[in-house]
Amino acid sequence: MKKLIGPKKFHLRKTAVFISGTGSNLKNLIKFSFTKNSPIQITQVISSNSKAKGLDFARKYKINYQIYKFEKKIKDENKILINLKKDQINLICLAGFMKILSKNFIMKFDGKILNIHPSLLPKYKGLNTHTRAINNNEKFSGCTVHYVNSKLDSGKIILQKKVKINKKDTPQTLAKRILKEEHILYPKALIKIFSNP
Ligand code: GRF
Repeated sequence: MKKLIGPKKFHLRKTAVFISGTGSNLKNLIKFSFTKNSPIQITQVISSNSKAKGLDFARKYKINYQIYKFEKKIKDENKILINLKKDQINLICLAGFMKILSKNFIMKFDGKILNIHPSLLPKYKGLNTHTRAINNNEKFSGCTVHYVNSKLDSGKIILQKKVKINKKDTPQTLAKRILKEEHILYPKALIKIFSNP
């Protein structure tokens, strides 16, 4: 029987988090997953980078992790799919994952892949969002949690948080403030979708 938790009696989603770098969102999601409000249980971490700092959090919290460099993308994706199926994963959270998943992969997890992006989508899809927002004299930027579809950063938006851009902001100072908000937004988005299925 599936475990029921929390006041809303969520079904715990077995979740894989995909990373490529620092992993602050991974760390945050792991900590969230230990709380009673969490609808997710993280049982896999997939990294496209063997040196990703985020892997330290997988080790620290004893979560299985695997590294796929995506040099042969389709081959690696097929291995990942087998591995996720074996572990009965039913949700994927992308968190700073720098590879673009194929249409085939996304279709296999249709509606079950989420991503966090550091801009107010649909503005500033892709990379270097903070630099572009500052250079365009935007008054606000922010972050977005969205479903992943086969078009980059274009899936249905789940939640967004606006962050004011200050005159003195550099891409680094803005990134830092937005990242703080990302850590609040990702758990909120998970609660939102799974408490109203
Ligand atoms: C975050 O800003 C996320 O929105 C973007 O990549 C960054 C990853 O940061 N997709 P971290 O690795 O979670 O610290």
